[in-house]
Amino acid sequence: MAEKRQNRIPRHVAIIMDGNGRWAKKRLLPRGAGHRAGLERMIALSEHAFDCGVEYLTLYALSAENLSRPEDELQGLFRLFREYFTENAEKLKAKGIRLNVIGDLSLLPEDLVGIIRRGVESTAGGGRGALTLALAYGGRQEIVAACNEAVRRGKEVTAEEFERLLWTGEIPPLDFLIRTGREVRLSNFLLWQAAYAEFYFTDTLFPDFSDGEFDEALRSFAARERRFGKV
Ligand code: FPP
Repeated sequence: MAEKRQNRIPRHVAIIMDGNGRWAKKRLLPRGAGHRAGLERMIALSEHAFDCGVEYLTLYALSAENLSRPEDELQGLFRLFREYFTENAEKLKAKGIRLNVIGDLSLLPEDLVGIIRRGVESTAGGGRGALTLALAYGGRQEIVAACNEAVRRGKEVTAEEFERLLWTGEIPPLDFLIRTGREVRLSNFLLWQAAYAEFYFTDTLFPDFSDGEFDEALRSFAARERRFGKV
């Protein structure tokens, strides 16, 4: 039977954290200041989301397409990623949250990849939830990589088998996708996984996306009727 109106918390939430640049511009600050504010919001919001009972949180931190941004903006983002993985892995581990990364890491600086791998390994045992960062990520690229893997294995696959070949293969289905920053599009994020997710779009720029607005989004999710194509 289709899953009807529900009061429960979505198990897997993803967020497209958009609007850092505009947040900075409004304050006559450099774009990097917007990303710094976004990082601080991201840290507090992820803690809040797990406290609310979300088990899997997937955050779009850098798309493959973002890699063609100006070099100084990219270097600033890489510095934030290094800082995040170095300073937060222990804290997440203490809370039982494992860190996970999806994307084409070969497009990132080698030293950053080393820092990411250490963060992922050190939190691997966490049983309370998983925080997945999408870095150098593209949904089409992920699907092509899974197709190539299926071809390499040399036999036809079912949808369920194909899903396990995606970078998100170990993560349960996406329930709820939030995008901040006024844009109403997917921008190559979790294309396959979004098939039956509920969407929530808000004008709020990511650094201003408060815990309270996240709660409002959860209430909106709880009021939805999910039919998964059934009646
Ligand atoms: C999109 O806003 C945001 C990004 C490309 C970067 C998101 C990064 C963070 C929130 C920091 C995350 C840090 C870690 C460690 C994962 P935009 O720059 O496109 O904003 P705009 O649309 O207003 O220009």
